[in-house]
Amino acid sequence: MDKDVERVLFSKGKIARRVAALGKEVARRYAGKDLVMVCILKGACVFFADLIRAAKLPAEIDFMSVSSYGAGSESSGSVRILKDVSAPVAGRHVLLVEDIIDTGNSLFALKKLFAERGAASVGICAFLDKKARRRAPVEADIYGFAVEDAFVVGYGLDYAERYRALPYIGVLKREIYEK
Ligand code: PRP
Repeated sequence: MDKDVERVLFSKGKIARRVAALGKEVARRYAGKDLVMVCILKGACVFFADLIRAAKLPAEIDFMSVSSYGAGSESSGSVRILKDVSAPVAGRHVLLVEDIIDTGNSLFALKKLFAERGAASVGICAFLDKKARRRAPVEADIYGFAVEDAFVVGYGLDYAERYRALPYIGVLKREIYEK
């Protein structure tokens, strides 16, 4: 275990088993549909790479990068787009893939955006769901694990751009982010 991690919440094996099930669920819901799977960078990149292979669908993949307006902001209705998708989405099914839903501000805004662009449907698949922190009225259609309100890192999730490559989800030691 990394020396900065206090405890492991979800091990590599537990993650692999859960992602295999999520892939099957995505495949079941979207079989025969024209699907675009959108990875919301950067945190979702590890989960996304596993999920698309577990789903085994002939879906188009694309990438998007957004920044929300910060934890103190009440403007939950919009996000700043840093990198947009290049795939056309009108009339197609879109599945937004996230590492975590926290306040829900980013996904609330993204769901609205893709609906305005004419997507046939906009689904959300999040690996982790931090329900206690929700502020925007949005829920994942498919999620991996509910997670407590702790500072979690690994499997794509960072603190100050570190720990993304850890193969498990762990809780960061308090002394790391409070120093
Ligand atoms: C994290 C995470 C989600 C978002 C969730 O991204 O990957 O995109 O925050 O928070 P919300 O539900 O409160 O909107 P972050 O901005 O840390 O960027 P990163 O994915 O590049 O690390």
